[in-house]
Amino acid sequence: MIVLADKTTIRLRVFIVGLALAAAGGLVLSVRAQPTRVSSALIVLAILTAVADSLAVEMQQGGVMSVAYPLSSATIILFGPTAGAIVAGLSCIPSAISREDRSWEKAIFNVSQLVLAALVAGWTYWALGGWRLSEDLLSTDNFTHAVLPVLGLAIGAVAVNTGLVSMAISLSTGAPFKNVWQLNYAWTTSTQIALTFVGLVIAQVTASDGMVGLFLFVVPLLIARQFYQRYTGLRSTYAGTVRSLVAVIEAKDPYTRGHSERVASYATAIAGALGLRPTHIEQIELAALLHDLGKVGVSRRILVKDGQLDSEEFSEIERHPAIGAHIIESVPFLADLAPLVLHHHERPDGTGYGEGLSGDEIPVEARILAVADCYDAMTSTRPYRAALTKSAAAAELARGAGSQFDPAAVGALLGWLGSAEESAQYPGLADVGDST
Ligand SMILES: [Fe+2]
Repeated sequence: MIVLADKTTIRLRVFIVGLALAAAGGLVLSVRAQPTRVSSALIVLAILTAVADSLAVEMQQGGVMSVAYPLSSATIILFGPTAGAIVAGLSCIPSAISREDRSWEKAIFNVSQLVLAALVAGWTYWALGGWRLSEDLLSTDNFTHAVLPVLGLAIGAVAVNTGLVSMAISLSTGAPFKNVWQLNYAWTTSTQIALTFVGLVIAQVTASDGMVGLFLFVVPLLIARQFYQRYTGLRSTYAGTVRSLVAVIEAKDPYTRGHSERVASYATAIAGALGLRPTHIEQIELAALLHDLGKVGVSRRILVKDGQLDSEEFSEIERHPAIGAHIIESVPFLADLAPLVLHHHERPDGTGYGEGLSGDEIPVEARILAVADCYDAMTSTRPYRAALTKSAAAAELARGAGSQFDPAAVGALLGWLGSAEESAQYPGLADVGDST
């Protein structure tokens, strides 16, 4: 037994030393190929990543979910593979020092595997055209170029990270590698890949708003961590990813705080009243939560402006459905929601924006989102006007039914709000809640 334990220890140590040498060698080559310049934004990112890493949540299934992951991805996208590897390697040092069993082997293993994962992920991203995306993060065209490099980044990071940790567990316990990986990590891969796209959004907001943009993420990421802690199932961590994106939008545009959640509750109520299937309603709920995601590409100055917008500013606002749709198209598992986001400002009479669709050309889900969105906008206080009362907003909806809004969706919302009096004033609206 003692001999076996010794052999195991030796094998593990050889593995760790090999890993450390590979990480050091890889880092030297990377620095030579792409030296990195230290900037204040990079230092802030490094500190935030280290804080996030020390707040990693241990999942019931045995894996670890850390909100440091999207921050490391954002570092690679903003500053390149070398900076990404250095930040990733440094990020686990505070948690290694604070741990009770200060094992040097564990610390060296963690630093080495994080550096290697970031190097593989970073250079894969770069080789797949990431350099072009990183040069102009705010160009709408580039969102379509983002899919391949960001997916490469995600797969590279997840494969190296979970592969090396599983290998270490397998060497120390004697359990087969495949079993260790399947038990601990197979279920987290899709969430990790989705989180890389959160990293892309972090990089975009930081590119448009600088350090302010970066700090906007402290609260959203802590919120995301709360979600991971509360719900440890795969599906729920995925919902946590969606909600962390929502928190990002609302952090950028403070006047819309709570807006996405309220639009989601109105939209699901309308969809339910119209008799849509539960899976369909779930899609509408997610699209409602993400409908204004494209605001990450709109200048914060315009989003928080007190006065009326001029025509140039309004045309920048009008880009947000397309930007949101481009981002969502690039996120695995969310791509189906892109048309709903793209068309949430269309009008039945064709005078809306997105693609200028009219009538039945507009997807029914987008027509539902438009009604839910406008009702919440009218009943919320904005910098340039006070909130309308519920009945005044309901009357506005009914007045615009058919031209600005889908009449069936308006009828369903008015019925749900219990505004029987208002809906009764507009013949044909009170009954449409039953139509499908
Ligand atoms: Fe919108």
